[in-house]
Amino acid sequence: MSIRICPSILNADHARLTDEIDRVTSADWLHLDIMDNIFVPNQTFSFEDSRLIIAHSQIPVDSHLMIIDPDERAVDYADIGSASVTIHFEASHDPRITLQTIRKHGARAGLALKPNTPFAAAEPLLDDIDMLLIMTVEPGFGGQKFMADQMSKVEEAHKAISGIVKERPWLQVDGGITLETIALAASAGADAFVAGSAIYGSENPAQMIAALRSAASPVH
Ligand code: DX5
Ligand code: ZN
Repeated sequence: MSIRICPSILNADHARLTDEIDRVTSADWLHLDIMDNIFVPNQTFSFEDSRLIIAHSQIPVDSHLMIIDPDERAVDYADIGSASVTIHFEASHDPRITLQTIRKHGARAGLALKPNTPFAAAEPLLDDIDMLLIMTVEPGFGGQKFMADQMSKVEEAHKAISGIVKERPWLQVDGGITLETIALAASAGADAFVAGSAIYGSENPAQMIAALRSAASPVH
């Protein structure tokens, strides 16, 4: 199984963002949290900021849209070069069409579920999803505590995804991922891991990325 480590720049130093992005190039994906202060009580990264971040990043960018109008805006994030665009189920009026549109614009299509949204919401859409994001905190802020009660949802999703013969969606977790919690999420079946404060709060982000990767890897 491939492990994907996705550093979130939400809690990086925004005053020297390009340097912060350059510190995590040993990771697989750069996770970009877009917040509109409506869908979540916090605001981050304007569209122009996002464009610059995507242009600068050497590793592919995974844009996580925490906004109320993903059906209208998701395509813009694909068009500025996000390799993956994730919309929230709770904010979308027609997730299937929006996921299909993201793919048509050349990006991987992601669907995110907040902690109170059951896996059943995503199940009928699996054919149109390249990555299912199961939030392990309430979206909005970095540095929150991992919600271990979401692991049953990860297990349920993993079971359903395992039945897909080709192009299985990736299973991502986001929120409170540390050296301890990543192992729980990996054993529940997650294969893509967003980590913000664990990586940017450490002295040596590259070393932390390697440690997270090995903590998530199955023991042989
Ligand atoms: C929270 C964001 C996360 C956040 C994770 O709403 O979606 O991506 O950056 O930060 P940590 O890893 O500190 O919980
Ligand atoms: Zn995120």
